[in-house]
Amino acid sequence: MNERDTLKINLAGHLEIGGCDCVDLAEKFGTPLYVFDEKYIRDMMRIYKNTIDGEYGGNGLVLYASKAFSCKAVYKIAAQEGIGVDVVSGGELYTAISAGFPADKIYMHGNNKLDRELEYAVEVKVGTIVVDSYSEADILNDIAAKAGIVQNVLIRINPGVEAHTHAFVQTARTDSKFGFSISDGTAENITQHVLAKSNLKLKGYHCHIGSQIFEKQSFVLAVNKCMDFIAHIKNATGFEADTLNMGGGFGIWYTDEDAKINVEGYADYLKALLNAVKAKSKELGLKLPYVLIEPGRSIVGEAGITLYTVGAIKDIPGIKKYVAIDGGMFDNPRYALYQSKYSALIANRANEECTEKVTIAGKCCESGDIIAVDVPMPKAKRGDIIAVLSTGAYNYSMASNYNRNFVPACVLVKDGKANYIVKPQTYEELVRGDVVPDYLK
Ligand code: LLP
Repeated sequence: MNERDTLKINLAGHLEIGGCDCVDLAEKFGTPLYVFDEKYIRDMMRIYKNTIDGEYGGNGLVLYASKAFSCKAVYKIAAQEGIGVDVVSGGELYTAISAGFPADKIYMHGNNKLDRELEYAVEVKVGTIVVDSYSEADILNDIAAKAGIVQNVLIRINPGVEAHTHAFVQTARTDSKFGFSISDGTAENITQHVLAKSNLKLKGYHCHIGSQIFEKQSFVLAVNKCMDFIAHIKNATGFEADTLNMGGGFGIWYTDEDAKINVEGYADYLKALLNAVKAKSKELGLKLPYVLIEPGRSIVGEAGITLYTVGAIKDIPGIKKYVAIDGGMFDNPRYALYQSKYSALIANRANEECTEKVTIAGKCCESGDIIAVDVPMPKAKRGDIIAVLSTGAYNYSMASNYNRNFVPACVLVKDGKANYIVKPQTYEELVRGDVVPDYLK
C-alpha cells in the first residue's frame, strides 16, 4: 500500500484515506464513490513546482493535465499551488474559467479544436494555444485578428520517441493524429507557416511522448531530439524557440507489477529532464528555454480510490469467482478499454489475509464490464465495501452514463474531513435533455 500515507489501515481494521474511515465515507456518501486525497494532490503539484524552482531557477511552469480529472475544485487547488493547467476542450476550459483559474496560465491542446473552442479560448484570453494543424493556425490567426490580439502559440511536434510503460522505442516517422514529425520535415514546414502569421506569436514547441512511462531515458531522448530541432530551426530560419513543453507521462503504481515511486522519485524524473535541457542548450549554444511539463496521472492517480459495495457473488467452479459491485465500466472503463490492472481490498476488513483471487465485475449489461481480473482478496460477501486503488486519474474523467447509471460523486478528503467536489447525479438529471417530439406523444 501507499508509503506516502494516503492510505492507512486504522485500529478498527478499516481502510482510511486522508484521515477518513472508508466505511464511514461509504455510509455517509453512498457508493460507488470516488474519493480524492487533497494532501496527495498538493504534494505532487508542489514537488514538481519546487523542482523547477530549485533546479531550473523557476524558468518554467508545471501544468496540471486536467484531462486526468477535471472539476472546479481541482482547478482551485492548482491555482492555489501556483501552477498552470492544460485543457483539451471547451468543456475543460469552461470548468477552469468558472473556477476562477487565471487564463494566462492555461494552455489549450487538441488535434481538432473546433472553431467555437478557439473563439472561446481567445475570448477568455487563454495564455497559450498549442497549434496542431495548418487549418487551425489559419483559423486561429483570423480569430485573433478579429479580436485585435496577437495569440501566443506553441506547435505540437513529434520527436520520434514513443514511450511505453517499461521501454521506449525510437521511430523514424511517427504515425499519429497528433503533432508534426521532426524527421520528415513537416514540423519545419508548419513552423514557417505559423511564423508568417501576423496575429500568432510562436513561442516554441510542445511534445508528449506517451503516458504511464517509467523509463527516464525516454524523456531525456525526447528532450535531446527537441533541442536538436530547435537548433536546426534557428539555423534554418533565425527563429529561436523560447519555450519547450515536454508534456506529461510519468507512471504511477497500480499493482505490484509497477514501480512504486515516492515524491522524491518524481522529482528525479523532472531533474533528469531539466538536466538534459541544460546540457543540450550548452552543447548547441541555445538560450535556456522556458520549460513546461504536463503531468496528469502522477498528480491525481494515486490520490484517488473508488469505493463500491459488493452485491452478487458468482463462483464458477474451476473457472472464476465473480464479485459484482455497484459500479462498473461506467465509472471506470479502463479495463474494458486497455485491460488495465488494479489492486483492490475490502475496506471494512482491510487487515484480513487474502485467501482467493476474484474478478471484480460491474453491473452493466455487458460481459466485458470488468474492473479487475484475478485480484487477491479475502472472501468477499454481500455488503462489503471494496476499495479499488489508484483510480484518481482517467476514471471520473472518462466515466459515462452507460445503461443510464449515475456517474458517481467525488469527495475530497483532508485531515479527517470529507466534502463533495462533484455531487451525486439524480434520475431527473439523466432525463434533463430528453425530448419527446410531438408526433410521438
Ligand atoms: N499532455 C498531453 C498533450 C497529453 O496528451 C497527456 C495525456 C498529458 C499531458 C498527461 O499525461 P499523463 O501525465 O497523465 O500521463 N486515458 C488514458 C490516458 C490518455 C492520456 C492522454 N494524454 C488512460 O486512462 O490511461
